[in-house]
Amino acid sequence: MKNKPLKITVLTDTHYYSLRSGSSGKAYETASAKSQKLLAESGEVLSSAFEQFASDKESEILLISGDVTNNGELTAHEEFIGMLRALKEKGKKVFVITATHDFRKNGETDAYDGDITVKTPTATRDMLWDMYKEFGPDQAISVHRQSMSYIVQLCEGIRLFALNDDSNLSGKSGFSDECFEWISAQAEKARSEGQFVIAMTHHPLIAPCPIYEIIGKCDMLGDYDKRLPALADLGIQFVLTGHTHIHNISASQSERGNVIYDICTGTPIGYPGVIRQLYIDKENNIVKASTDYVNEPDNFASEGIKLKDVFENQLIGTIRGMIEAAGKDIDKLAQMATAISIKPKVIYKFGWIIKPVFKLLNSLKVGTVAKWIRKETGLTPADYSDIQDKKVIDIITELVLNLYGGESKYPPETPTYKVTIGFLNIIDSILETLHIDLKKILKVVPDAASLVEPLLYNGKIDSYEAELRIFPYVEEGVSGEKLVFEKKAPTVRKSRKGPFIIIAAILLLLAFLPLWILIILIAFLHNRIKFADKLK
Ligand SMILES: [Fe+2]
Ligand SMILES: [Fe+2]
Repeated sequence: MKNKPLKITVLTDTHYYSLRSGSSGKAYETASAKSQKLLAESGEVLSSAFEQFASDKESEILLISGDVTNNGELTAHEEFIGMLRALKEKGKKVFVITATHDFRKNGETDAYDGDITVKTPTATRDMLWDMYKEFGPDQAISVHRQSMSYIVQLCEGIRLFALNDDSNLSGKSGFSDECFEWISAQAEKARSEGQFVIAMTHHPLIAPCPIYEIIGKCDMLGDYDKRLPALADLGIQFVLTGHTHIHNISASQSERGNVIYDICTGTPIGYPGVIRQLYIDKENNIVKASTDYVNEPDNFASEGIKLKDVFENQLIGTIRGMIEAAGKDIDKLAQMATAISIKPKVIYKFGWIIKPVFKLLNSLKVGTVAKWIRKETGLTPADYSDIQDKKVIDIITELVLNLYGGESKYPPETPTYKVTIGFLNIIDSILETLHIDLKKILKVVPDAASLVEPLLYNGKIDSYEAELRIFPYVEEGVSGEKLVFEKKAPTVRKSRKGPFIIIAAILLLLAFLPLWILIILIAFLHNRIKFADKLK
């Protein structure tokens, strides 16, 4: 008789926030405006996610890979543990690792009381093992106490490696050498016993996109470049991660040829608000990954607005509002900027530059840009008629959302893809003319188009629904088959406009130099007089 695939439900970065830390008033509002996640609503949203899992008859295992609380508040741990116990009482199995947001060294973090920020006690690292022992360590077949890692048998033939990576003991996240020796010994044992291994840790081993590798390098698992191939060669092929709050699946291959997947799941309490489901089908050598959105909680406070839109607004609402205000109203922008820690004085000082630039950006339509790049894209007005009135700024904010969402909305044949990449090809042509080598500066991509392309279209593994092949283990001294992703033929031509644009810009600058100086001087003085009070 055939064995049914094992279904596992995966959550990460639940960041549970206790209402006892304050959920109204100026101090809370300021903290909330800077957050990508819903803080005060996290309890409702997580209850809904847990209810989805509880009512799923096919899945009896829940994995949570760290950052379970907002900032390690004791009240949050207490209430969250209560929610996990309720799941166990319903017959579910819950396995948890904690991460860097679940404790504070000094034992306290911020809470909010009206206009003021106060302190509330948190867990310290050494408290967490006992607090979460009942969610994994108590059922473990092996534990590594110092790192707070453990191994459990999920069912016959499938073993979970729950690897806490909150410290590698050298100031980074990751695994100490001694901890890695324990992982290696356990992985070899599992392999010799014919066990399939699924691992979970908190920090990513593979950057979900090139932008993350540039700005979030320090947020990757410590020494990931060394640990990634080492884990692959231990036969650990599937690693569940979180931390980035980005929904993504990536794969890599060690030199020997062992494949490793990093299955990173977004947070359930922020955009895109997801729960991951895995189906381990050993008989067909497939791990199927699928995604559910968290159901809108009953009587959800944000009446009439869909949960996904609430998440979207939380992530991008402040920035969107600021971009709009930047082109219209410097006073409003100065007030809003405090939400992202920019002092109003800075906004008033540069208001004379900010306003015209954003006025132009706010009025720029896709149809206008599409006209500039007809040569690169080959698009006719009829091809882009559906998006010609769309604002460029809306496409930019969509790309920011997709940094977290990991969706593949615009494949290479779509006009949005062509217009965006065509425009970036012009930028790349200008940079090339100026002998600015982006590869040298950014290291991870050769040009601006390659940096942005993954936010439009995912040409490798779909982040939401994917069938991941279980590759045969490659022993030392043997070389395995190559992991290849089919690449679609380019739909946009490289641009040669760089030299022309630079010459035109220099000529324009020189021909009207006195006029430019006069305009800049008037704008600067006008700004000084208009905001004289605010600049004092
Ligand atoms: Fe997190
Ligand atoms: Fe984290």
